[in-house]
Amino acid sequence: MRLSAERSSAGRWRQVLLPFLLSLFRGALPDQIRYSIPEELAKNSVVGNLAKDLGLRVRDLPARKLRVSAEKDYFTVDPDSGDLLVSDRIDREQICGKKPLCILDFDAVAEKPLNIFHVAVVVQDINDNMPLFKQSKIDLKIGESTKPGKTFPLDPALDSDAGPNSLQRYHLNDNEYFDLTEKQTPDGRKYPELILKHSLDREEKIFHQLVLTAVDGGDPPQSGTTQIQIQVTDANDNPPVFSQDVYRVSLREGVPPGFPVLQVTATDQDEGINAEVTYSFHNVDEQVEQFFNLDETTGEITTKDHFDFEMVNSYTLGIEAKDPGDLAAHCSIQVEILDENDCAPEVIVASVFTPLPEDSPPGTVIALIKTRDRDSGENGEVYCGLLGKTEFTLKSYSKNYYKLVTDRTLDREQTPEYNVTITATDRGKPPLSSSTTITLRVTDVNDNAPVFQQPAYLVHVPENNPPRASIAQVSASDPDLGPNGQVSYSIVASDLEPRALSSYVSVSAHSGVVFAQRAFDHEQLRAFELTLQ
Ligand SMILES: *[C@@H]1O[C@H](CO)[C@@H](O)[C@H](O)[C@H]1NC(C)=O
Repeated sequence: MRLSAERSSAGRWRQVLLPFLLSLFRGALPDQIRYSIPEELAKNSVVGNLAKDLGLRVRDLPARKLRVSAEKDYFTVDPDSGDLLVSDRIDREQICGKKPLCILDFDAVAEKPLNIFHVAVVVQDINDNMPLFKQSKIDLKIGESTKPGKTFPLDPALDSDAGPNSLQRYHLNDNEYFDLTEKQTPDGRKYPELILKHSLDREEKIFHQLVLTAVDGGDPPQSGTTQIQIQVTDANDNPPVFSQDVYRVSLREGVPPGFPVLQVTATDQDEGINAEVTYSFHNVDEQVEQFFNLDETTGEITTKDHFDFEMVNSYTLGIEAKDPGDLAAHCSIQVEILDENDCAPEVIVASVFTPLPEDSPPGTVIALIKTRDRDSGENGEVYCGLLGKTEFTLKSYSKNYYKLVTDRTLDREQTPEYNVTITATDRGKPPLSSSTTITLRVTDVNDNAPVFQQPAYLVHVPENNPPRASIAQVSASDPDLGPNGQVSYSIVASDLEPRALSSYVSVSAHSGVVFAQRAFDHEQLRAFELTLQ
């Protein structure tokens, strides 16, 4: 990646963005918020005001805790303004390769109440790459008996930019013998092809020099060049010929390295050593040489690495056959990769709201769960469940999202902590699954009244007892936590006259010990009753 001089200024693109957003928000809130930014923006550049675009008020932001939930954090939300900010380098070529439309999809999560918003940021290309030829010089040999109209495919130049900034055209310097045309491989890659205009005469001129230029569509355009040297060979040589121009093969995604793909053959009419043909890749993507091996003498193609359907699902292999006189022929092989259920689904905890007060009503959201499976079709369809019998249920929320909610009221005194295991299974044959566990703490609320160990205490006190001596001990317990579980004691009622009560007995608020305040006289007082709390 090169930095380009005409990198768009932030001001310029925001002006373009605004009418686009306005038209989006005229009606109801869309399912998905879309922004559009150029690649390579500086860190902390503002993409848009996400809070406003989602209809959230800035003053509610601290409570709503608006944030980005994504696999890779290209963006963050400014907690004060609600602006969506760029937080990492966004290189379109690195993220999207040759895809014409580059979109970063993610979710924005807000709490109280829980909302998920789907956000898409379209990353526009800037012309930061120029077309480049793999070789600065191309050598070709062409027999002097070759008929005008014969074509010679050339390696294309590469330009990682997309759309109008990508490679647009080729041109050749003015010359008497060759024209240039542009062809396309079945997978859409464009390449230049030389066309012979007039018969070549070795006696007149052995070498021809050409300059090939590739130009992109940027403003201003960038270009790259390569030299072509053509040697005119003797009329008696014949070029090799492939048995087919195009071969088609399907391969299962799971085939091991070394797996045979196909054998190509080109024959040469020349006798003896001249008939010995060698094979090589020609006009191929770098990927091809990473995944396929070509035996240069037998033409046998084998696999070199494990395929990943989810990354690339087809390849075009260009093959060149050359005889010892360097006369060449070309063919292409279309390899289609067939998906297998090789990716287990993933369970991603997007948000978890723990600890949870024990008096939360049934239906309280505890966590937001997202699933993902890189396989396609049924292999990538995922359903979720909970392991074991639990106090919780999973509710489908939106595509690939589940809410974990309480199914009944919880009781901290009974279960202070839960390990909730969520499993995700795909519909592949055989299915793959995975699971994740959320530890949920339950916090106390003062939902238990203290309970006396005995409903009634009967105490016998001998008369003439010493004053201020303890005569009984009551005790109550409360299973709540901390201050909610602390018990204190007091006398709330008695059959004694209120003024007499305090001169007869007291209770320690802290310990529940009951004290006689004076010596009792059996003649005067036989029994009395106290109600404590
Ligand atoms: C939950 O899992 C953790 C970690 O494995 C363990 O330490 C804890 O005891 C578990 N709690 C319960 C209630 O099972």
